[in-house]
Amino acid sequence: MGSWPVVMILLCLMGLTCAEPINFNDCGSLSGKVTMVDIYPCAKQPCQLRRGDSYSVNVTFNSGVESQISTAVVHGIVIGIPIPFAIPVRDGCKSGIQCPIQKQQTYHYQTTLPVKKMYPAIKLVVEWELTDNNGQDFFCIKFPVQIV
Ligand SMILES: *[C@@H]1O[C@H](CO)[C@@H](O)[C@H](O)[C@H]1NC(C)=O
Repeated sequence: MGSWPVVMILLCLMGLTCAEPINFNDCGSLSGKVTMVDIYPCAKQPCQLRRGDSYSVNVTFNSGVESQISTAVVHGIVIGIPIPFAIPVRDGCKSGIQCPIQKQQTYHYQTTLPVKKMYPAIKLVVEWELTDNNGQDFFCIKFPVQIV
């Protein structure tokens, strides 16, 4: 183990950049493999998302295919029903990914999740997908959140 985790913890304690790897479930990543999901800020899990605030999302994945494009699809699952969730930028190629996507490369999909004031203060599961040329998922991840 290198010194990187120690550095990260020190940065966290100093209140500086401190992305939190969160627990997630894979919901069928076919064209890729997810290694890490960071939400910032998220001090404890499930992440508490404050209405009116924005959160940064950073998904690290390894691509299994080549693709010219990548498109994000986000749903909020409320009592088992997936509800489409609008995000400002759906184009993965404008979210930290350099396209065309190459095979066997690691990418960081980085975007912002604005939590609108009008959202109800409920617990829900976020389902986040990034699709390739063929509409298959580079990744499909699920994680619980609490809107406060
Ligand atoms: C996303 O996570 C990766 C891996 O930890 C890191 O190298 C990168 O700097 C992060 N990006 C942002 C915007 O935090």
